[in-house]
Amino acid sequence: MSTEPFKNVILIPQTNQLLGLYTIIRDAQTKRPDFIFYSDRIIRLLVEEGLNQLPVTPKSVETATNQTFEGVSFLGKICGVSIVRAGESMEQGLRECCRSVRIGKILIQRDEETALPRLFYEKLPDDISERYVFLLDPMLATGGSAMMATDVLLKRGVKQDRIFFLNLICSKEGVDSYHEKFPDVKIVTGAVDECLDENKYLVPGLGDFGDRYYCI
Ligand code: URA
Repeated sequence: MSTEPFKNVILIPQTNQLLGLYTIIRDAQTKRPDFIFYSDRIIRLLVEEGLNQLPVTPKSVETATNQTFEGVSFLGKICGVSIVRAGESMEQGLRECCRSVRIGKILIQRDEETALPRLFYEKLPDDISERYVFLLDPMLATGGSAMMATDVLLKRGVKQDRIFFLNLICSKEGVDSYHEKFPDVKIVTGAVDECLDENKYLVPGLGDFGDRYYCI
């Protein structure tokens, strides 16, 4: 990675608990129900960390004991945007933390003729430019799809510093390519893997996240 390795990469605390969760989902022997359960636990931690990053404003409330509690409340609205299909696995974790959250979708697929990623579909909240956006995609490998999805968000008027890209694993080269283009987007992740293999899978990685999470 470049000279400032973790600028705008928020790596969630590397506790033994987290390492244990990654050990289960990275294990090729782990069956789908466990893969889903333990991935969901990591997703929940990523969402919680994303929420920690949002700005707040002071707010005081009267408690049931007639005392004043000096607290905070979130500034602004959020929404999720999942990159179909693997990103959809992260929607439930966001919904569990943010009731009634709006969630948009972006479908990007490899164009068979050019081998380049191509935007097939986007469905986003009309007022997305006024929201903080949690961009959801579990694996950041080359960054091709994430960069295209981020371009879609910027074209819709979302500012880079209002985008939080949540993923379970990213590659060093993916982070570098992504941040070269979008330096002010914050990447919230739980693991940074060394490299990609010849098929552009993360190493050590966990294989194809979408195939392991969903029945193929
Ligand atoms: N997408 C995946 O599901 N796995 C990888 O290793 C890379 C991209």
